[in-house]
Amino acid sequence: MGKDVFYITTPIYYPNDVPHIGHAYNAVATDFIARYHRLRGEEVFHLTGTDEHGLKLQRAAEAAGMTPQAWVDAMEPKWREVWARLDIAYDVYIRTTEPRHEEAVRKILLAVYENGRDDIYLGHYEGLYCVSCELYYNEADLLPGELCPIHEIPVEYFREDNYFFRLSAYAERLLEHYERNPSAVEPETRRNEVLSVIRSGLQDFSISRTTFDWGVRLPWDETHINYVWFDALTNYITAAGYAEDPDRFARVWPANIHSIGKDILRQHAVYWPAMLMAAGVEPPMQVWAHGFLTVGGKKMSKTNATGIHPFELIDRFGVDSYRWFFMREVQYGQDGSFSYEAMVDRHNADLANGLGNLASRVLAMLGTSYAGVVPEPTEGGWEADLPDVIVQAVERYDEHLLAVRLTAGLAAIWGIVSRANQYLVEKEPWQLAKDPARGDELAGVLYAATETLRILAILIQPIMPAAAQRLWDQLGLGGAVDNRRVPSDVAWGGLKPGTVTSKGEALFPRVEAD
Ligand code: MSP
Repeated sequence: MGKDVFYITTPIYYPNDVPHIGHAYNAVATDFIARYHRLRGEEVFHLTGTDEHGLKLQRAAEAAGMTPQAWVDAMEPKWREVWARLDIAYDVYIRTTEPRHEEAVRKILLAVYENGRDDIYLGHYEGLYCVSCELYYNEADLLPGELCPIHEIPVEYFREDNYFFRLSAYAERLLEHYERNPSAVEPETRRNEVLSVIRSGLQDFSISRTTFDWGVRLPWDETHINYVWFDALTNYITAAGYAEDPDRFARVWPANIHSIGKDILRQHAVYWPAMLMAAGVEPPMQVWAHGFLTVGGKKMSKTNATGIHPFELIDRFGVDSYRWFFMREVQYGQDGSFSYEAMVDRHNADLANGLGNLASRVLAMLGTSYAGVVPEPTEGGWEADLPDVIVQAVERYDEHLLAVRLTAGLAAIWGIVSRANQYLVEKEPWQLAKDPARGDELAGVLYAATETLRILAILIQPIMPAAAQRLWDQLGLGGAVDNRRVPSDVAWGGLKPGTVTSKGEALFPRVEAD
């Protein structure tokens, strides 16, 4: 059986600290994409996890007076609790300290070591290392004062005997791969960056360390610990069944999308495909690099004390508004600054006044005029362009989401919300309700508006799963909204007259600015 599963991954996060909203940005985006593919009826495999080896983790544990294992065991739940509250529906959570992963790391190491081309060889390294990146840097790439360009902390001088991976032998094959697959790195600026890195000449990189011992030992030389990035990248094939389940591996691999931040592009789009080629495994289909959430123009991070914990915002705005804000406000692929004021504005404009108001008006009118029961629409009672508006928005939503244009996809479905609110203003059902002779019109208008809400509940499910279910319940539709599918369940007319609705609490209560 060939590949038939849509496989999407987040980076695996370093649990040396707790998550901030920059980490959660990727998690939410990946979940949104994964849920959208499920909505289309695809079998989806969404992977996330924690990157638990390496010097950075070992040092964090030492600073806390704990063993590395005890430290990662204590920290990893602090990541999962955030994903749970953010409604991140991953299928598998991987920890690089799990035995199944260590087995996969040994398997890929041996596959490369024994590929007959001497792609792993023993050498000597000395250079400047950033422990936060877990990367060696060339002096020319550093900031003045020998600071890491990402973390702005001093790099350290390291000198050791390492095994090296012969990355330099893969430049041609990588270029061919990117030539043949123009969308293998997105967005285009990142693709160009990757091509220029490859064209400017690739240097072999070291894949083992002897100065510390927190990691996977090389199968052929147990005095060496595998380099944390080699170990970490391998998680993507571990979880797909590389070492333990060849049938599953054939169905899942190659990954459709590795969703990552732009700071880890080189590892994902240069190192990783070359490692796979050396091991005789296909490279991923696409690496999608998003930008940074910034504060004062800089990457939000714990290192510079600008990291905001997601709970601070979820407590105030609710999980749906949180997910909506970051996906609607920050173009996926570009940097975006976070501001509390912008979040209040979006919440009130798009959610409280937009969809929330639409739902509460329609459900209230159904309540007063029909005791909550959806009326039978009579022929000609309502003429509206809503069915056409919906068909077009659904098509654009699909095109945008498949191309990972997340912001544009959301804007497309919000066209339905605007049009429906405007429709109510034009038809004035509150006036129709006062005139017994216009009962047909009233029934038609309320049917059309309620049907629009039903369709919206399905369409917003990938981005706001909890709000979608609340709306679905208020509409009296029964069951789980995430069992619905596009396009079949968003065809006009699916709402049955006689359905009993109930106006519950506001979907999105307004938030006042401080
Ligand atoms: N462990 C490595 C990834 C290994 S993947 C095989 C790592 N971990 S990390 O915890 O430092 O970062 C995880 C992800 O969070 C990266 O994609 C990074 O870009 C992202 N972000 C960290 N801070 C961010 C922002 N301020 N904004 C957006 N994303 C950012 O790197």
